[in-house]
Amino acid sequence: MSVKSEIIKVLEENREQAISGQELADMLHVTRAAVWKAVKALKKEGYAIHAAQNRGYSLAGESDILSEEGIRLFLKGDQKSNRIVVKKSVDSTNVFAKKLAIEGAAHGTIVAAEMQTKGRGRNGKSFFSPEGTGIYMSLILRPRGKLAEILPITAATAVGIVRVIRRMTGMETKIKWVNDIYLENRKICGILTEAIMDFESGGIDALIIGIGLNIRTEQEAFPVELRDTAASLFPEKVTRNELIAEIAEEVLELSEAPGTMEIMEEYRQYSLVLGKEIFWEEKGIERSGIAKEITADGALKVLCGSEEVLLRAGVISVRSCLWNRK
Ligand code: BTN
Repeated sequence: MSVKSEIIKVLEENREQAISGQELADMLHVTRAAVWKAVKALKKEGYAIHAAQNRGYSLAGESDILSEEGIRLFLKGDQKSNRIVVKKSVDSTNVFAKKLAIEGAAHGTIVAAEMQTKGRGRNGKSFFSPEGTGIYMSLILRPRGKLAEILPITAATAVGIVRVIRRMTGMETKIKWVNDIYLENRKICGILTEAIMDFESGGIDALIIGIGLNIRTEQEAFPVELRDTAASLFPEKVTRNELIAEIAEEVLELSEAPGTMEIMEEYRQYSLVLGKEIFWEEKGIERSGIAKEITADGALKVLCGSEEVLLRAGVISVRSCLWNRK
């Protein structure tokens, strides 16, 4: 571990507490000059490190820079030793994670980035990923079970994210079918799951679960076409490192058995669409109906007059957030 990494680790573990240069030097078995140099470099990278005379260095409570050490600090038990890769900038954490998976990266590997230059969304869309104000993360899973058993993982991931947001911030978010997370009728989070197939066995070699969560992106910073439909969480006193660790743990735990009745029931409880009038497009024609049920395998049952329609995938919009219609 470099001196910089070791200092981040110590400061993250002791947030808002001053540690003298001498103490750090002793802990890391380096000179005070080496500590000073590393702290200077960290400050340049954006870490809010206060240096008080006679007291030492402390990491400010609001400092919110992503780091491997900062994420690891909040992982518990089994996940504590997971591989974590943090990038300043990457085209897409999903693309990067896919490369790592092909090279053999293990189940539970976490990839996160401060920004993405080609963030990918579902249906070939892009995902707006500005620097430092969002969570852009991908998890590598190596599913052991059959394909059908792992398919509900995206729905389970949505459930996991709602749980983490509630636990860490007290905020109630909702799931808009299929798997977008909404805060008061605006999208704050999207999930993109991609698979690497094993052609020999016909099974899944790895799954990449990509999660994009807007944390502190100001409304006017969103591109015009998203300004009325997207929003950010703006959590208080929670860092992105902590949220990434909590989300990773929750999703990894849920991935053991993602399609249970309990998880689907929780998914329904968080649903933004059940009981509402929804709209979708079928062969270029707009249709509407009342969202009646989410089936055990995640399909949406819609009542259109006397006809019952089963939607398995796609994009819908909801009457109560009509401005979200694209
Ligand atoms: C959607 O809303 O359409 C899905 C968005 C998924 C975005 C995340 S950000 C991290 C990961 N890397 C990507 O390129 N996409 C996913």
